[in-house]
Amino acid sequence: MGKTIIVSNRLPVKIEMNEGQTTFTPSAGGLATGLGSIYKEGQNIWIGWPGMYLDDPEMRAEIMMGLNEEKMAPVFLTQEEIEDYYEGFSNETLWPAFHYFTQYITYNNKFWEAYKKVNEKFCEAILKRAQPDDTIWVHDYQLLLLPQMLREKLPNAAIAFFQHIPFPSYEVMRMIPWRKELLTGMIGADLIGFHTYDDMRHFLSGVGRIVGLPSESGYIQADNRIINVDSFPMGIDYDKYSESAKSPATLDHIESFKQSLGDQKLVLTIDRLDYSKGIPQRIIAFEEFLERYPEYHEGASLIMIVVPSRDNVPEYKKLKEEVDELVGRVNGHFGTLNWTPIHYFYRSFPLEELSAFYRMSDIALITPLRDGMNLVCKEFVASKIDQKGVLILSEMAGASKELSDAILVNPNDSEEMVNALYRAFTMPEEEQIHHNQIMQRSLKRYDVFQWVKVFMDRLDKVKEKQADLTSKAIDDRLIEKIKSQYDVAGSRVLFLDYDGTLVGFHNDPQKAAPNAELIDLLNVLKRDENNRIIIISGRDRDTLESWLGEIEVEMVAEHGVWMKSPGEDWELAADFDASWKDEIREIMEYYVQRTPGAFIEEKHHSLVWHYRKVESGLGDLRMRELFSHLKYMARGQNLQVLEGNKVLEIKRPDINKGRAAMRLLRDKKYDFSLAIGDDWTDEDTFKVMPDEAISIRVGYTYTNANYNIKSYEEVRELLKLLGSSS
Ligand code: UDP
Ligand code: G6P
Repeated sequence: MGKTIIVSNRLPVKIEMNEGQTTFTPSAGGLATGLGSIYKEGQNIWIGWPGMYLDDPEMRAEIMMGLNEEKMAPVFLTQEEIEDYYEGFSNETLWPAFHYFTQYITYNNKFWEAYKKVNEKFCEAILKRAQPDDTIWVHDYQLLLLPQMLREKLPNAAIAFFQHIPFPSYEVMRMIPWRKELLTGMIGADLIGFHTYDDMRHFLSGVGRIVGLPSESGYIQADNRIINVDSFPMGIDYDKYSESAKSPATLDHIESFKQSLGDQKLVLTIDRLDYSKGIPQRIIAFEEFLERYPEYHEGASLIMIVVPSRDNVPEYKKLKEEVDELVGRVNGHFGTLNWTPIHYFYRSFPLEELSAFYRMSDIALITPLRDGMNLVCKEFVASKIDQKGVLILSEMAGASKELSDAILVNPNDSEEMVNALYRAFTMPEEEQIHHNQIMQRSLKRYDVFQWVKVFMDRLDKVKEKQADLTSKAIDDRLIEKIKSQYDVAGSRVLFLDYDGTLVGFHNDPQKAAPNAELIDLLNVLKRDENNRIIIISGRDRDTLESWLGEIEVEMVAEHGVWMKSPGEDWELAADFDASWKDEIREIMEYYVQRTPGAFIEEKHHSLVWHYRKVESGLGDLRMRELFSHLKYMARGQNLQVLEGNKVLEIKRPDINKGRAAMRLLRDKKYDFSLAIGDDWTDEDTFKVMPDEAISIRVGYTYTNANYNIKSYEEVRELLKLLGSSS
């Protein structure tokens, strides 16, 4: 087992300099606090930016040494990189886009260039330290390009990615000019994790529509790999927070805070200063609450901890002014000599003080407009040793999916927030305890250690699955072997499927005609008298005839309905009954009328409903509807409904390529037999091949064939090589 390399933009510590002494203190933010508890195990290392500009080489060296001792390694950024990559692309383009603040998105090519460059810088820093059996775990939106950059250098490495912020729907993702590069960057990983199911499904839909890669049950099928995508809601270090809430230092803080605040009900809010957190909306809700319930004047205060964040980014500066003004307004309006409605702190606090606030507050009001997860709400619940206290939580936070025992609110609905506050203030203690018990049980069970374990176990599973799929991958050695068997064989038979095997897919199936290269290739193979070349296809005979008729190869059309020997006429190879078609065609026609882009292809023994050109998503939806409709119809009629590559085909079950191939193989034994195909219809061919035959499936999926090959281009290379002996 190798080590784990954790990579994130920000290291889990910040550097502080006091009178020439450098010290490290923990950074705020969910990513850093969440993983802070695990990276020190074994040989693990955390690579990231120390969070400030450092130009003095001596200082850099000193910091590097200090970090090394703590199992971290720095990536230093120039002033310009901080401005364009960190403040710019990460926090003025991706952050607003991914949190659905599309009005704040900045589109700037210079930022994009810097983003690429810094992702490369991280890549180099990792390559310096990575060993072949290491696991590389990349985190968050600042490094979306990194997984693919690493993949290119380390094709077999275990690379995982986790996104700590939301992933936007396709409608927002498509707005970003560099959307395709960003998605392609992410799918360099083997496992991609999100906090919620919604984030995951948005990502998969983006990959399908923008990159064009299909997925099924959370597995993306890329060129030569499968990639798993799933939701892994992140937990907290539960014991750390529940222990800290009891520690003597925390109890001391509670004592002294209580002395200053007097006997009041306390509402707590803690966030980084970020427009995604809904801070102004929350102040306004509190203001309305005081307006509506004067009995709480002098009896309740809001403790508002706002941690400075990204203060060079213009939208954050504006927000600071807005928050200052709102707090001033509320305190000015309601405050008295002995009561301050809002205690506002614009700074961060160490753990014991945070713990004191968590433990002593009656209510936590956590109402982000959008949040990937939100750990503060979980920390609040974990700190409630006596299980008294009420959590009001925004339904827009990922955490709301797990914490349904909180009072859930829509943060844009101030009326609902005011009601929630009142409900929280008046909730009986037994009810508070009941809800906190349930939430604590869940948070304890799914803590951050469990999160890491589940994630890492899944990564192992994905690697195993990949290995399984590629165990049959054709390599140079195998190609050599096939070639030498071919060379010594006196008689040979080659079954070649057409679409997806000899040519790629087109939106219009009639555009998949063979090019000169393919015609030459088949001619060369055909010319060798020892070869019997059979094109075995689902296509209709007219198309095959017009495309390949001149080469005079043997052909099987419509999965075996028609067969043709060179120089002879097409022969009907299966008895033929088309009486079922009219009724089915009518149903298919109904779905064509409702679905722009769909069309019906009619073959002798089957009807095919094509939807490659239909708006993605809609096509799948209609296909499912049609599928169940046809299945119902097919039941009484001995027909078979089959799902293919963007097609749905209904046909007689007794006609398939396997039967056709068997018939063609019946009279003769060959020294060399080869079958190549790319989809389920070819599996029937593979199954009837003689034991010593070579069968190859295009694409890396499970198959009855002996081997997999990457693409139709590689099939052509192989055939060219075989032909070169002739
Ligand atoms: N935090 C902190 N010091 C503070 C305030 C907050 O360390 O003064 C921590 C807090 O405990 C939590 C994290 O910052 O773990 C914030 O994470 P969250 O997921 O709630 O929000 P994010 O900042 O990631 O958007
Ligand atoms: C969120 C992001 C993290 C980020 C943190 C603090 O938690 O998911 O990637 O580190 O905010 O933001 P900052 O810009 O200060 O690193």
